Amino acid sequence: MPSADGEMRSEIRGVLFRESTIMSRLDELADQISRDYAGCDLTIVAILNGSLMFGADLLRRIEMPLRLDCLSVSSYHGASTTGVVKFNQARLPDVHGRHVLLLDDILDSGNTLHAIRDKLLTETNPLSVKVCVLLRKDVPRARELEADYVGFDIANEFVVGYGLDYMERFRNLPYIGVISDEAIAKYAPQ
Ligand code: IMP
Ligand code: MG
Repeated sequence: MPSADGEMRSEIRGVLFRESTIMSRLDELADQISRDYAGCDLTIVAILNGSLMFGADLLRRIEMPLRLDCLSVSSYHGASTTGVVKFNQARLPDVHGRHVLLLDDILDSGNTLHAIRDKLLTETNPLSVKVCVLLRKDVPRARELEADYVGFDIANEFVVGYGLDYMERFRNLPYIGVISDEAIAKYAPQ
């Protein structure tokens, strides 16, 4: 059987962050989060599907009691954002009286996290809402949104792997890389 990673590797123009680099950075982020939220009632809200790998690896490094909830939203089609954030479930997590840390794969335009933070603040009653992203893209934000915890800053390139997709592909790569122009064209929405 041909290696799936080999097959996908040919569509990656360059590796930005190897698995070991990501894990070392998660050690640091988890330390910082554990220190900042010590003694607090913390709920981590992971935004699916992009933060699945990030969340799984980060949470196992945080050494304090916490709750985990997941939210599924969609706003992105192909390599450009639609700006409209759709909530894919009827109920929001119950975070009344708790500190919330939103987890997402990447901060790009800021539309997604802005919409989620807004909805949580107006419809639930959290003590605080902060934001943690694995990647922060160097682009002007469409929405006023600062990330409180950032794994890595990146240039304005379309990246995939370690949870991040292009047309639902490449999430299962263990590293983060830049997709080739050929692959962008090959899998472009019809
Ligand atoms: P924003 O709402 O524009 O900040 O976009 C956030 C969402 O868009 C992320 O949760 C990702 O799912 C997706 N996204 C933005 N940039 C990229 C990228 O470079 N690769 C893969 N997905 C991306
Ligand atoms: Mg996506």
